[in-house]
Amino acid sequence: MKMHQFDVVVVGAGGAGLMAALYASRSANTAVLSKLYPTRSHTGTAQGGVGAALGNSEEDHPEWHTFDTVKGSDYLGDQDAIEFMCNEAIPAVYELEHMGRPFSRTPDGKIAQRPFGGHTNNITKKPVRRACYAADRTGHMILQTLYQQCIKNKVNFFDEFQVLDLLINNGAAAGVVAIELATGELHVFHAKSVIFATGGHGRIWEITSNAYAYSGDGVAITLRRGLPAQDMEFFQFHPTGIFKLGILITEGVRGEGGVLINDKGERFMERYAPTVKDLASRDVISRAMYLEMKEGRGINGKRYLYLDVRPETVNKYAKLDDRRNPDGSLYQVTGEEILARLPDIIDFCRTYLGVDPIKQPMPVQPTAHYAMGGIPTNKFGEVVIDENNTVMPGLYAAGEVACVSVHGANRLGTNSLLDLIVFGKHAGLRAAEYARGASFVPLPDNPTDFAREQLDRLLNGKGDERAADIAAEMKHTMHDHVSVYRTEDGMKQALDKIRELKERYKHIRVDDQGKIFNTDLLNAWELGNLLDLAEVTTASALARKESRGAHAREDYPKRDDQEWLKHTLAWRKDGDIELRYKPVVITKYQPQERVY
Ligand code: FUM
Repeated sequence: MKMHQFDVVVVGAGGAGLMAALYASRSANTAVLSKLYPTRSHTGTAQGGVGAALGNSEEDHPEWHTFDTVKGSDYLGDQDAIEFMCNEAIPAVYELEHMGRPFSRTPDGKIAQRPFGGHTNNITKKPVRRACYAADRTGHMILQTLYQQCIKNKVNFFDEFQVLDLLINNGAAAGVVAIELATGELHVFHAKSVIFATGGHGRIWEITSNAYAYSGDGVAITLRRGLPAQDMEFFQFHPTGIFKLGILITEGVRGEGGVLINDKGERFMERYAPTVKDLASRDVISRAMYLEMKEGRGINGKRYLYLDVRPETVNKYAKLDDRRNPDGSLYQVTGEEILARLPDIIDFCRTYLGVDPIKQPMPVQPTAHYAMGGIPTNKFGEVVIDENNTVMPGLYAAGEVACVSVHGANRLGTNSLLDLIVFGKHAGLRAAEYARGASFVPLPDNPTDFAREQLDRLLNGKGDERAADIAAEMKHTMHDHVSVYRTEDGMKQALDKIRELKERYKHIRVDDQGKIFNTDLLNAWELGNLLDLAEVTTASALARKESRGAHAREDYPKRDDQEWLKHTLAWRKDGDIELRYKPVVITKYQPQERVY
């Protein structure tokens, strides 16, 4: 076992982790632990934009952004935190620009902005250009810029270190235990502040836009250590994943004028969201797609629809919608312009499907994309551990792993990159400030025991269960029963199945008994995390007897503010899930019916 000591330890090197590390490292000795090489983190796959009401191409205001986010959240988002995030958005984006982060530009050199789902001019109710973008590589540019800034700022990186456990002593965070992938050796990182920024857990579903590494490590580790997970029933399905593969096709395609088409050639979103159409919020569009396919209007009767961004289609609908450029001229595009604005998704479709989006429509289906739930925090990134929002000293979370909650029941596109730069920064600042005033909490006795036990159980297993089989059954079950639409019966079946899989998981066999890069072992360990999160997601969803945002129940089709305008907190207790609830923070906007 190797020992290290830092003021601040950040777990995860995506946008939130790097932003936290950058800010913490300005006043504290900071380390980042990442199971990947940092620039391979999942933030690099974020495509379409980061939301900020810069107003570069048309009128916009942080208040409009705030209201759209509250409405998009189906009124489950905490309004004080949402307002904070939308106000902070503007300086945060300019700060990235000043760090050297490349953006696409308007003809007069300002940061370019495009429309995105659910972002509107609050007066006309029409889509507003709020997503600041770099072609369809927005996350990639943020990740590269922040990594360079962290290197410049002498952040200590421990690449390819998988964190296995959180150390707690006297109710405060004391550090983490990690395995070094290259050697199999356990390391203890003793820290005054620990920041989790480990991302989401879309890998519990069969079709997902999420990276293979997105195995819910942060939430699973904290649940195992007795902390709650918040609002886990809310998981977003992005409307446009590549059919069967799930790879993200950015909403920026629809921002640039692309439309969704069914087997009859209809632009069906006109029926479901007459004002904003293909730029409604994601929950609304995914449900519409599901209904189109259920009613037999999937392409050739199959489980996919077309996303059409061919210039002739874009130009036809731009005319019908009377879509205008900022200078008042009619919006019209050429193939070259589409290629320049969306190079990656065009490349993905050509490579993986043999489809050229300039000439052919893309086959798409909803894909598991984003966890609105996670480790509960306040707006400073401090982890809170109960319904009274009691802060755990020294523990922070930011980015997708955290539930602040700014996304409530449904996140708007572009608000995830915004969330990670704003709350990553504040978590880093708070963690460093806390570390300045605190002394090291003593490590618990035998700090590696719990991590070692988990690995040994897998390594010594003599059963004949295979991780890949259990994972496939879990993903299939979650996709069938806990996805865009849900029912009591389906979720009960899912919960029984997940619990059966958890039993079978105890009899798993790991073939590789070696120490060096034992991905067989780590893959099995990650599956344990995914199973825990599948269970807590399903138990939280089963209990919520209403439809809100991404949680759509066929048996309870209406939102029920009387009973359910509240956040779920879930704990693992004695082999079961205990659920408690806490109120939503409402400041300016009383819940209304959502119309798009
Ligand atoms: O569609 C997209 O480009 C995804 C963005 C997001 O999830 O915020």
